Amino acid sequence: METKPLDNIFNSYAGAAAVFREKDTLTDRHIPERIPHREEQISNIARVLAPSLRGQRVSNLFIFGTVGTGKSVSAKYVASELEKKSGGGVRVLYVNCKMKSVADTEYRLLAELARGMGRRVPATGLPTDEIYKIFFSAIDEEKKSLILVLDEIDALVKKVGDGILYNLSRANQELANTKLSIVGISNDVSFLDTIDPRVKSSLSEEEIIFPPYNANQLRDILSERARLAFNSGVIEDGLIAKCAALAAQEHGDARKALDLLRVAGELAERSGKDRITSEHIDQAEEKLDTDRVTTIVKSQPNQSKAVLAAMLSLQGRGDTPASTKGSKQPNGRGCSRQSGSDGFLETGDIFSEYEKICKAAGLKVLTQRRISDLISELDMLGVINARVISKGRYGRTKEIRLILSRELTDRIRKIMVDSYILEG
Ligand SMILES: Nc1ncnc2c1ncn2[C@@H]1O[C@H](COP(=O)(O)OP(=O)(O)O)[C@@H](O)[C@H]1O
Ligand SMILES: [Mg+2]
Repeated sequence: METKPLDNIFNSYAGAAAVFREKDTLTDRHIPERIPHREEQISNIARVLAPSLRGQRVSNLFIFGTVGTGKSVSAKYVASELEKKSGGGVRVLYVNCKMKSVADTEYRLLAELARGMGRRVPATGLPTDEIYKIFFSAIDEEKKSLILVLDEIDALVKKVGDGILYNLSRANQELANTKLSIVGISNDVSFLDTIDPRVKSSLSEEEIIFPPYNANQLRDILSERARLAFNSGVIEDGLIAKCAALAAQEHGDARKALDLLRVAGELAERSGKDRITSEHIDQAEEKLDTDRVTTIVKSQPNQSKAVLAAMLSLQGRGDTPASTKGSKQPNGRGCSRQSGSDGFLETGDIFSEYEKICKAAGLKVLTQRRISDLISELDMLGVINARVISKGRYGRTKEIRLILSRELTDRIRKIMVDSYILEG
């Protein structure tokens, strides 16, 4: 069999020094030895949990902050140090409630917890109060302090409501020998306001906030990880600073910063280079953004997809070329505008186009009001950019801009075709 064409691909990996020494150190699988810039939060968590070492009940703790601010890594670190220190007197049960198989239903989560305590329980079938009993009796028998860490607790409540937190927070009334405390971790900073006030006050006996990292802090975090991840000479300090600065602009997210490094390294590797360049980082940023938006669009309901498809069609028809990311800001506002004439779309035009698309695709046509809501949602998800403008005595309207690169436009169009919203 002819294998020559593959040489192009394989040769860039064989021979010359590899880009990565250990790529895994740029993912969540890696447990960092040091967690810089979280000293204060880590000591505070430790201070809250330390009384468990004397067998005292620990206050429930609520940890919150936006994604990638080091909440999970810090909580796990303190938990494992505490368990070691206690010599068996303290046990920490950690669950990530975002995991589908674990926390889809109240039953599933409790079954998972009971299994964590070494009980064998069926995957379904028992009445809910039975599974509570099994879990509570398992922890009571241990006669230890138990700290239950519910990571991404906001995802749990979205799926199953806050009743489970109410029950867990009252567990101590049924336990004779064990003291149970709950550490809840949330990416959604307004989560506490969405739950029952009794649950809220019980869960947030103590609160610790994780602020976003700034560019300097991200640079420190990245330098450490880059040293482990890349062979020497692959990335220079200036480029680490560039990744840090990019991620700091967007919510100070350490995961995003690590992803940038990883994808930039992969792009360098793929193009047969043994050094990462500034262009690789730009491309990595674009790729991450494309992947993020593609994932969001795929998970949208058909009605939302139809609205987005309408915008794509209008844009494709406009006399300006598809706007690319980072293109210049619009100017000359105030005058009346026609859809597409300068890259803007208006709700009315989108609605007519949406109607046509629905009819062709056999979808129900929703009211213009609902469409306006769906447009706002797409805006919030960062897929489109909408803003309300005043048209003087003609009232208000929404101006919508698609901020999609050519590649993203093509990918989204393909999603629309695959889900039968648009014809191929
Ligand atoms: N201060 C830090 N030092 C080292 N790595 C960090 C730090 N903060 C976050 N990370 C890394 O960034 C990624 C995201 O952190 P994580 O704790 O999962 O964030 P969160 O739970 O707040 O979303 C993980 O890979 C983690 O190891
Ligand atoms: Mg987390």
